[in-house]
Amino acid sequence: MSAYPTLATRRRESIVNPLLDKLQPYPFEKLKNLFSDVTPNPDYRHISLGIGEPKHPTPAFIQQALIDNLAGLASYPATLGSDALRGAIADWLQKRYDIPRPDPATEILPVNGSREALFSLTQTVVDPSQKDALVICPNPFYQIYEGSAYLSGAQPYFVNSDPARNFAPDFSQVPDDIWPRVKLLFLCSPGNPTGAVLSLDDWKKLFELSDRYGFVIASDECYSEIYFKEEAPLGGLEAAHKLGRGYDRLIAFSSLSKRSNVPGMRSGFVAGDAAILKKFLLAP
Ligand SMILES: Cc1ncc(COP(=O)(O)O)c(C=O)c1O
Repeated sequence: MSAYPTLATRRRESIVNPLLDKLQPYPFEKLKNLFSDVTPNPDYRHISLGIGEPKHPTPAFIQQALIDNLAGLASYPATLGSDALRGAIADWLQKRYDIPRPDPATEILPVNGSREALFSLTQTVVDPSQKDALVICPNPFYQIYEGSAYLSGAQPYFVNSDPARNFAPDFSQVPDDIWPRVKLLFLCSPGNPTGAVLSLDDWKKLFELSDRYGFVIASDECYSEIYFKEEAPLGGLEAAHKLGRGYDRLIAFSSLSKRSNVPGMRSGFVAGDAAILKKFLLAP
């Protein structure tokens, strides 16, 4: 054999971002391997706890709206989306959370899926030259939180769900010397996979910490419209408003994927701190 394969291997290694080696396979991949030699009991119906894909058909009026607008495929969409879309999002936020109408020009951005937006926000917020930066993630967690932290050059710091708090993460367990290193904190409420919803008191404490240490709160609310109680779950913007606070260092993420059974449409939005959203527009 010539030296050619070695050279090729070296070249290939040098074009791959070494941070990718830190990424974990999706837990469902691991689970599939663990189940590889298990034969399921045929007496039971299979319930997949894998990818969180809605199991209902997309409502007909959404399908029709897509069909009616197929001519739009011929143009690139603006990153900002249309004024009409941002206006509709502002109206929904105002009605859903009983908050003053967010400014559609500065406080709202449509995104191509909240997963991609969660990734981009981490790249927007973390300074890769800061070697000890931390990104707080609930545990268990939606995998993009961890992956986006690693690829930004930060380390994830996991806060475990607490059975005594209906499986909400217990942030009071975070040691004092950790907080100054935190650049971003992911919340998921209602939580995946626990369903835990943060209380106004939880939000109050987190806002106080964010104000003291300057980290950004990314509030993943893609399950905000899927709940079992009469009362709709509290959202991050709503909590900020109730506590008489603006949206400084707060970005809420919403998605049509689960609530409207359209994961294939990759449609969601982010809302909150206008200064961060301005920078977010530049992120990959
Ligand atoms: C907690 C959580 N956040 C975000 C997403 C991403 O949803 P989408 O990218 O479809 O908006 C998912 C999808 O499974 C999720 O479970």
